[in-house]
Amino acid sequence: MLFDLDERKYVTVNRDHLLVNASRIKFDIYVRMTGDEKSRAVLLFGKETPPDEIVKILATKHFGEFCILDADYAKYWTLLKDSMKIIIADEHIPLDEKSLLVYECATETVKAVFEDPRSGENIKKTREVTNNIIDFALDNPDSIPSLLKLGSHDYYTFTHCVNVAVFAIGLFQCIGRGTENELRDFALGCILHDIGKTDIDEKILNKPGKLTDAEFDRIKKHPVLGVELMKGLVPDIALDVIMHHHEKFDGQGYPEGLTGDHISDNAKISAIADVYDALTTNRSYARARSPFEAALLMKEEMVSHFEQEKFIEFIHFLSGT
Ligand SMILES: [Fe+2]
Repeated sequence: MLFDLDERKYVTVNRDHLLVNASRIKFDIYVRMTGDEKSRAVLLFGKETPPDEIVKILATKHFGEFCILDADYAKYWTLLKDSMKIIIADEHIPLDEKSLLVYECATETVKAVFEDPRSGENIKKTREVTNNIIDFALDNPDSIPSLLKLGSHDYYTFTHCVNVAVFAIGLFQCIGRGTENELRDFALGCILHDIGKTDIDEKILNKPGKLTDAEFDRIKKHPVLGVELMKGLVPDIALDVIMHHHEKFDGQGYPEGLTGDHISDNAKISAIADVYDALTTNRSYARARSPFEAALLMKEEMVSHFEQEKFIEFIHFLSGT
């Protein structure tokens, strides 16, 4: 929460989140005191305080909300991102709070990679956030349903990419094929599946009305454009998902029109996750459907697009979320 006090902007922060990696805090921490008169922010410790001293101060009981200067918020987030492994393993932090941190960290990172997809540093961070989601899912079976609850009903590229990755990770685990390393490469492909759209004119991507054939042909290039962008930056398992997440079991998909077993299991799982998330979020041409409505529509109108066995697994997985 952002607020103004004494002509400075502060933002409230969570003490438990600060405690997980307290020795690395490099910014001032204040406590917001609310008394009979007016609120004030009291400096609890400065950024130069020795790490062991910081841990001692934070562990002591305090009254009032913890806050930092808004100007230090980026530093706070960097600390959280770097501490995600510890946060996931920390039993004192409730599941829903962990979910929110993992989810927000992932969407922020995807935003950055879409702004600069050729940055090796951004790809490295994207791998870290998909690994966070997987570590979280492996740590607690309730993590994936908790993360899925956070998905927005409105469509944004970044949340769509994260939702598809979360859903696909859950489905991959449910179907139970592939090693943990394959799951990590697969999840990277899922979170980057639409990265090729960064090479497509936004006017086409955001066009509210019906697309012309030429515009639709351009959109259908995004898997190939994505692979061109990511070649050499991500492993082959991830490239396969980027290239083939729009292939359909009956051969009606794109870009290659592959059929049946010519499509990898990973690409088939990513296609189910992609379609399901698209149906359950609001789009310019359709309202968000409930999970049940989406599954019914997929069964009644698209069943030939998916491998039967995987579609059944998807229904099982959905009923458990
Ligand atoms: Fe796509």
